[in-house]
Amino acid sequence: EQATSFYDAVGGAETFRRIVAAFYREVATDEVLRPLYPEEDLGPAERRLRMFLEQYWGGPRTYGEERGHPRLRMRHHPFTIGPLERDAWLRCMRIAVAEIEPELLDDEHRKVLLDYLEMAANSLMNAPW
Ligand code: HEM
Repeated sequence: EQATSFYDAVGGAETFRRIVAAFYREVATDEVLRPLYPEEDLGPAERRLRMFLEQYWGGPRTYGEERGHPRLRMRHHPFTIGPLERDAWLRCMRIAVAEIEPELLDDEHRKVLLDYLEMAANSLMNAPW
């Protein structure tokens, strides 16, 4: 018997779609983050982050099928990510997660998700300034 994944417990595809859509809506007007994104169209970046998070939390493994091993440190190497960028990324992400109602994301799951995002953002810093 398979335990319910975090992905299913918080509402599956629709919840991740909403979080990542709101995150990129914030990125689009963030003066620290927006210049880092190489493409004018944020749509493909939105899709990659959504697929990654779905896979990480036990949902579909489409990210791996399309992109292979995440190697996130390596993939962020081209971008200067210091405390300013980390803070901006987390600010956008916290706004996005806050839009998910408690019926879908209860306190316990919300804390697990936010703690992970903070840890992951810290781990991807590659510049001290
Ligand atoms: C890609 C910035 C943190 C997951 C990218 C890209 C940028 C970026 C500019 C390229 C857009 C694209 O073409 O996809 C940042 C900044 C961060 C940050 C400034 C601040 C700390 C994170 C975190 C995660 C993450 C914490 C995961 C929890 C991803 C993924 C991709 C990506 C999955 C696409 C990788 C691929 O090419 O397959 N990020 N990121 N990022 N980021 Fe971040």
